[in-house]
Amino acid sequence: MLIDGRPYRTLWMQAEDCVCVIDQRLLPWRLEVLELRQCAQVAAAIADMAVRGAGLIGATAAHGMMLAAREAQSPAQLQSLAGMLIATRPTAVNLAWAVKRVQQAIERAPWSHRAEVARAEAATIADEDAAACAAIGQQALPLLKTMAATKPQGEPLRVLTHCNAGWLAFVDHGSATAPLYAAQAAGLSLEVWVDETRPRNQGARLTAWELQQQGIASTLIADNLGGQLMREGRVDLVIVGADRVARNGDVANKVGTYLKALAARDNGVAFWVALPCSTLDASLANGDHIPIEERSPRELSHIEGMDESGQVREVQLCAPNTQALNLGFDVTPARLVDRWITEHGVFDQAAALFAAAQRH
Ligand code: MRU
Repeated sequence: MLIDGRPYRTLWMQAEDCVCVIDQRLLPWRLEVLELRQCAQVAAAIADMAVRGAGLIGATAAHGMMLAAREAQSPAQLQSLAGMLIATRPTAVNLAWAVKRVQQAIERAPWSHRAEVARAEAATIADEDAAACAAIGQQALPLLKTMAATKPQGEPLRVLTHCNAGWLAFVDHGSATAPLYAAQAAGLSLEVWVDETRPRNQGARLTAWELQQQGIASTLIADNLGGQLMREGRVDLVIVGADRVARNGDVANKVGTYLKALAARDNGVAFWVALPCSTLDASLANGDHIPIEERSPRELSHIEGMDESGQVREVQLCAPNTQALNLGFDVTPARLVDRWITEHGVFDQAAALFAAAQRH
């Protein structure tokens, strides 16, 4: 997608051993590229959320495995580097899925070929991620056109989204945003309500900026306003991403998603989840088994922003020693989801969603 009119992906290779990523800790204030040359640097970039979002942490970890394959002198050492990558963030299944996929590709080839094999597999994972997201947009487009056709002449389709399941969370296009970009390209008029997404403010810092860069009208709202906007009839549709979807269709996504789903159901607003199939976890019967990441309380007690002099500063929001609990994700029960949209189609039943993924 575009930054200042120039096309970018969130991750690319520079030379054989240098993985470049956009440092998302600095957005929207500064665009800086991080160069990762060691597996440990990749692990740190994921853990510290320089890169974040389910698809992107998967693709980045795959490239971490490429670096690991160059560093490891034995299969045991490679296994331990894979473990280090997987341990960085527990909720989004794409991470472990991508690491294991590169590991399996290496295992199928002679040990001496491990670096080339890992590089090729990591590149394929990144390309597939971008292609899957583009396809999600096309799968959702007919539904959006139908919905837009019911609006009074000249009124935009009003979509609410939570967190950043945009192109910044993937290699390109995004999951929740891909339908928006497809709709924009098809000439539909859109207006997006962007949840700020406390505590790390991915909505305020990333989604609002990302949509501005692509020329889609958006309005930032406090996380708690969504329900009231739905009551007032000012939301036509909620589209969110996912970090892991269990076999019964329960969806783990950024904390706050569940409350949006409850408000949507109470107000008869459609609630869609957009995800590539790499986010499906057929090994878990339901969302109760999805590990929920607990992050530092400091993400709640402190906040970062830019002051009037252009300095980025962190300030404390509460009294020192305030106890805080920072769970990063919640689980939305499948019964509250109207549609799951993947690269393979639009589904209203979890069984059909998993069956289609299996077929491809
Ligand atoms: O903690 P993050 O920023 O890595 O969280 C991931 C997310 O951005 C959201 O949960 C998103 O909606 C799903 S990731 C495509």
